[in-house]
Amino acid sequence: MGVIYFYGADRPDLFRIEREAMDRAGKVIARLDALLPESGTILDVGAGDGFTAERLRTTAREVIPLEPSQGMLRPAKLLWWVGGEAEHLPFHDGTFDAAYSTWAYFFSRYLDVRPGLDELRRVVKPGGILIIVENLGQDQLSDYTQGDTSADLNFWKKQGFEFEEIQTNFEFENADDARALLSLYRGTDVSEPPLTLSYRVGLFRQGLVESALGPPAGSPSWPT
Ligand SMILES: C[S@@+](CC[C@H](N)C(=O)[O-])C[C@H]1O[C@@H](n2cnc3c(N)ncnc32)[C@H](O)[C@@H]1O
Repeated sequence: MGVIYFYGADRPDLFRIEREAMDRAGKVIARLDALLPESGTILDVGAGDGFTAERLRTTAREVIPLEPSQGMLRPAKLLWWVGGEAEHLPFHDGTFDAAYSTWAYFFSRYLDVRPGLDELRRVVKPGGILIIVENLGQDQLSDYTQGDTSADLNFWKKQGFEFEEIQTNFEFENADDARALLSLYRGTDVSEPPLTLSYRVGLFRQGLVESALGPPAGSPSWPT
């Protein structure tokens, strides 16, 4: 499907607001940190400006950000940047111990993301783990977005992924930031923006480490 247009390449000012506001508490990154191997080499597909990669990398765990859009890359950040797309990963089979993607390419409701999944399964070693993060919808954020941006739960279930919900918030620093971003989302001026919006995130994971980890405490099972 090629590179999916993302406004952040043209509007780094708005992307900075979004990236800091969405899940300001850092619950998604904390959960990724807990699920990913503590050491080894991890692939971040559609890494954007490297916000997540730089928070997950440690001396023992290298995180490689793969990003197709020049406008999103931040070469000044000390990461091993790789240009490329989810459907054509420029790596040998079994290169990585795990791979994840947060709100990039794997938008299951509208796109056929199976070519990207095939690539993840190719470049991650047997025994590794795949993690995809998408919106879940039915939250206050959805009052401001256009169309249904939620994950297709049935798709991930059919693909053999486990599911957990992360309840977090969009939290803006000030009304100007909230107005700028929510107006972009809605396509019209949001004159009296809220500073906090509930935000439901879906984390979908698959891998042989699953049996060792077991389901996360308190996570919902698949809806029937
Ligand atoms: C909403 S941003 C998310 C960025 C980052 N993952 C994060 O959580 O901050 C979506 C990213 O996906 C990238 N992208 C678009 N098409 C892609 C593709 N075919 N393969 C991989 N990444 C893609 C965009 O350039 C953009 O950086």
